[in-house]
Amino acid sequence: MFKKALLLALCIMLVLSVSVAVTAQDDAPSGDLEIFSWWTGGGEEAGLNALIARFSELYPDINVQNAAVAGGSGVNARAVLTTRMLGGDPPDTFQVHAGEELNALWVAAGLMEPLNDIYEENGWLEQFPQGLLDLISDDMGNIYSVPVNIHRSNVLWYVPSNLEEWGVSVPADWAEFVDVTCPALQEAGVTPLAVGENWTQAHLWESVALGVLGVDGYNGLWDGSTDWTSPEAVTVWDTFGAVMACANDDANAISWQDASQRVAEGGAAFNVMGDWAAGYFLVDLALVPGEGFGWAAAPGTEGAFMMLSDTFGLPTGAPNPGAVRAWLSFLGSAEAQDLFNPVKGSLPANTTSDITNPELYNEYFQSAYEDWTSNAIVGSQAHGAVASPAFSNGFSSIIASFSATGDSATASANSATLALQTGVGR
Ligand code: GAL
Repeated sequence: MFKKALLLALCIMLVLSVSVAVTAQDDAPSGDLEIFSWWTGGGEEAGLNALIARFSELYPDINVQNAAVAGGSGVNARAVLTTRMLGGDPPDTFQVHAGEELNALWVAAGLMEPLNDIYEENGWLEQFPQGLLDLISDDMGNIYSVPVNIHRSNVLWYVPSNLEEWGVSVPADWAEFVDVTCPALQEAGVTPLAVGENWTQAHLWESVALGVLGVDGYNGLWDGSTDWTSPEAVTVWDTFGAVMACANDDANAISWQDASQRVAEGGAAFNVMGDWAAGYFLVDLALVPGEGFGWAAAPGTEGAFMMLSDTFGLPTGAPNPGAVRAWLSFLGSAEAQDLFNPVKGSLPANTTSDITNPELYNEYFQSAYEDWTSNAIVGSQAHGAVASPAFSNGFSSIIASFSATGDSATASANSATLALQTGVGR
């Protein structure tokens, strides 16, 4: 009798466990997953590919479609994305910068799904820095995306042995660069600064602004406490003009990778670029940090870390939300972040990652991490942290006109008008 009961109980357990397994199987996400970004090559693709490869091992039933659109800083991808979102044809998930690029556009339009459940399930509320969570949340505490990294915008890149050969050192501030470093290099027949297309000029501008205005003055541009037409703000434009006069003539025709490559190959002395350039130097050019390339805070910005973060979200109406949730749960994990960031040039955003392991994160990352954890943190305008896409689009035009005219008073006045029209500082 007892034996029969035991046998029955065992059979029931077996049936239950099989049905649980079958249910789990049925619930496993499957189908197509379209991942939209601008990481197509030259220092950017490797990180994305590493993520997709591991994700595909974990979820063999999900068919990843890498829908990256070429163009540094998302200049082309964002236009395609906007058309698709407005046309009711969102990709399953897309790359978007933490901060105003996410909030002022997609969240404000009600086109993103909150992801708090994913954060709670994974214990991420304790694992991501609060300042970063604030950048991707609304006032009600809804969280709208998952960060894969922390990039630094204000980095000056160079090749140490080249500077030695040309007899110049890393300039402490922009005045030194303009008055001492630039003429010395020009004298030696070397292009002082490699700069690329329009968005890389806006990128340079924010490092000049931070260097000239300091942390409080720079922050004031975005919170309304620095007047865009003040003498200090006009000085930013004057300095930017003087810095651009030290750049290659073909700036508008080259990409950020071209500009970085010129520095690496000795065609120019310096370049200001985000630390995706480290990914490019390490992975694409196979350079040794500290030898093949060196770095410093952009002139005058020592002690300040201008941050931006690449994140992914779940748009309303995404064709396959189950697969997106699996992707996002993976992206935020320490495992994914430790696969992605060592090749992308960025720091992991998840604080339980292996960042302090020098085998995985070389000396560039160690120095960036030290600065990230000790410096004053400010947000990047060129990469969506502190100003809306409406401001950034208008600002690109102001940069373009300034390049043609060099008129700093007009650039300041136009920036003030743009800030007013787009709600910056309100
Ligand atoms: C930034 C982005 C980086 C990198 C860079 C150049 O906006 O955050 O991840 O891709 O553009 O394309």
